Amino acid sequence: MIVMTTEAKYLKDYQTPDFFIPETELFFNLDDEHTLVRSKLQMKRNGEHTRGLVLDCQVKQVLRVLINGNQTDFNVEQEQLKIDVDLAEFELEIEVTVDPINNTALEGLYKSAGVFCTQCEAESFRRITPYLDRPDVLSVFTVTIFADAELYPHMLSNGNLIDSGLVTEDDDSNKQLRWVKWRDPHPKPSYLFALVAGDFDLLTDTFVTQSGRTVDLELFVDKGNLHLGHHAMASLVKSMAWDEQRYGLEYDLDKYMVVAVDFFNMGAMENKGLNVFNSKYVLADLNTATDIDYHGIEAVIGHEYFHNWTGNRVTCRDWFQLSLKEGLTVFRDQQFSADMGSEVIERISHANVMRTMQFAEDSGPMAHPIRPEKVIEMNNFYTVTVYDKGAEVIRMMHSLLGESGFRAGMDLYFKRHDGNAVTCDDFVSAMADANNKDLTQFQNWYSQAGTPSVVVSEKQTDTALELTLSQSLPTRPAAEQNKPLVIPVKYELLANSDGRSLERGTVIFDKTEQMFTFNCSEPVTLVLFENFSAPVKVQRTLTQEQLIHIVKYASDAFCRWDSMQSLWLQQINGASDTILDKSRQGLIEVIEYVLNNDDIETSIKAELLTIPSYTSIAETFDVINPSHILKVKAEITQQIIESLFETINALVQNLTNIEDGYIQSSVAQRRLKHILLTYLSHSKNSDVERLIRQVYLDSTNMTEKVSALESARVYSVALLDDLLKDMDTQFTDNVLVFDKMTSAVARIPHAEVYGKMALWAEHKLFSDKNPNRVRSLFGAFIMNNPEQFHDESGKGYQFLADFLKKMDKLNPQLASRMISPLLSWQRYEPARKDLMKQQLTQLSKLELSKDLYEKVSSALG
Ligand code: ARG
Ligand code: ZN
Repeated sequence: MIVMTTEAKYLKDYQTPDFFIPETELFFNLDDEHTLVRSKLQMKRNGEHTRGLVLDCQVKQVLRVLINGNQTDFNVEQEQLKIDVDLAEFELEIEVTVDPINNTALEGLYKSAGVFCTQCEAESFRRITPYLDRPDVLSVFTVTIFADAELYPHMLSNGNLIDSGLVTEDDDSNKQLRWVKWRDPHPKPSYLFALVAGDFDLLTDTFVTQSGRTVDLELFVDKGNLHLGHHAMASLVKSMAWDEQRYGLEYDLDKYMVVAVDFFNMGAMENKGLNVFNSKYVLADLNTATDIDYHGIEAVIGHEYFHNWTGNRVTCRDWFQLSLKEGLTVFRDQQFSADMGSEVIERISHANVMRTMQFAEDSGPMAHPIRPEKVIEMNNFYTVTVYDKGAEVIRMMHSLLGESGFRAGMDLYFKRHDGNAVTCDDFVSAMADANNKDLTQFQNWYSQAGTPSVVVSEKQTDTALELTLSQSLPTRPAAEQNKPLVIPVKYELLANSDGRSLERGTVIFDKTEQMFTFNCSEPVTLVLFENFSAPVKVQRTLTQEQLIHIVKYASDAFCRWDSMQSLWLQQINGASDTILDKSRQGLIEVIEYVLNNDDIETSIKAELLTIPSYTSIAETFDVINPSHILKVKAEITQQIIESLFETINALVQNLTNIEDGYIQSSVAQRRLKHILLTYLSHSKNSDVERLIRQVYLDSTNMTEKVSALESARVYSVALLDDLLKDMDTQFTDNVLVFDKMTSAVARIPHAEVYGKMALWAEHKLFSDKNPNRVRSLFGAFIMNNPEQFHDESGKGYQFLADFLKKMDKLNPQLASRMISPLLSWQRYEPARKDLMKQQLTQLSKLELSKDLYEKVSSALG
């Protein structure tokens, strides 16, 4: 029995490790319930102390411990293995067993769908073998795997395959076991260890690096799925070339392996030389994957590849520094995606992530700086704050230093720290030193939680525009006063007379309050935070006229999109009994203007026309009332469709015979068609039903099929059922398509959604042990069905709490991710606030995993 500790760890308590482990040798005898793991560790005392050895330990059973070949006493308690030893250097051998088949948490070594695989980040290597399981202990790993040769033809670990052979088991079975031996020459922390064993199809390719070395690329997929691996492989090749071109970074092993597995908690994992991927981010073809899937695969393949330098070669000193590798690597994958596709489309989508999920997290009970200071369960800190706000902070450094200054900083960072485990401060210092710049104040971004609010006021005289900005953060304990942040503000001045661009630039806003003067001799409209130049909430009152001026004339397409969104928000925030018909008419007119404007690029047009999501609207309210938001949003949509039905319908009819394939121009056209179809689906016109069926039937790609499903869901449940029935027979046994179907079901905005979800959870492809299945069905309900989840009866909240109760026992990490909508309970109007709190209170009375315990207790704290 392992006793769980719920004590918090603090950044301020960091201490260097008591021992180092220069060499790690591991032996695995793979078995479903009793895998035997033997380790042989070369231990080296760090410094002159006399403390005994304390290893992190969460294995099933410790069998024996040997020091320099002699069996020795040991003690396991509180997830630690303690050994009395006073030697300065010694060889430590440990034998343990683990139980992969019953490991539904999917951390450590687990077996699912016939495949053994590992997930060690952040602190799960200790579930495989006792170890100094912390990122500042780097070791050279040699790994030997023994397993049934027939069941597991592929037995993989990090680095290079250096030896292999056959042995006959010494029991009566006479079974042949095969063994393979891998060695990774690069010292690495335990979290980057990986092992995979299974029977796969193998797709291969090669990449010749800039220095002329040939790297073997190997992609392992489930049997029969080889044809689904080509896009992932092509993305890998592009990633490798891009990192050489943009950062001069070359791959450093002879082999790069990617394995796609069906059961995975996250997107993917950057284990050295052996990435393990959620199959969702590998498998794709035209018939089964949407444009969004194609994009996601390219981005995640890139992300994990880029970790080879930002994460693996230079890693984190401790887990509080997680953003050192994640913020930076997300920034790099964003740059990569922008270079492969469209910068502005990327920016819009990242701003959406920030303004919905990240701003919500930053205003809730789990708010933390991008470098957290206190952690109970590290898995809870793989957050939009650490990842996405972390990337925004890196991006602001890029804005301050420019492309070449940023590159100089990166070069210096690698020069100084290659092979080391370092801190966020080390990164900022490299950036500062390479550019001779003082970034001390900038570092406040690393230590202060909460979304900065920027209040804008402006005054125009005959000769100038005077802009006053003031910044504030949510209040902190009195002892820790917030300090002003360095905020790069990209701007443009537009002439009011004809929309001419008069001036563009960046001002650095780094005081609590600051005034900027722009000389201009004619009336102007100021465009602020071009390209989402800082992750802040802007409090600014613009008239509808000013917003429309920006939509029409701003150079920056991001701001044009942003102003369109604001036009919607104006209607919803300001809607009361006295809705101004005239201003509603103004919104409809600008939508019509965009619809009919052939000068607007298709991809941008689609974004300009996108109806703001419920979540992005909700996040702009201090007190959230879902009924109000949904009602007004539906009203506006209705009015738009009444006025513009013919125009929209005609445009959809024009968008036929779009060329299949993941080609930017086709992606844009399908996106626009989808947005237009969404508008139409709000009409009850029976032509629309015919149109949706036609889109579904005529399409030869999954993007349009899913688009039809989404529209059907809005139009009528009967139509949705019809399409789903067809899809279910056409795509039998395809789990990734099944996930798209269940996501549509889970978002049915009526009470019948509960019955439907229950029905689909009975489907033969559904399993509550598979995170993708669970997220697609229940996750979609929780996150993307505001109508039912936030129903005033409280039924949605109850549903989530009941679900979490069960899920926490199976997979705590997954449960913990899915509790997030309840955490913001204090943001809601009184009735819902109460209902949500009741569910949290119920949960708090149960015996919870560390993961859920940390969140529930902070939410009620
Ligand atoms: N490092 C991985 C990535 O960013 C994610 C690992 C997440 N692990 C976890 N336990 N939450 O790609
Ligand atoms: Zn990452």
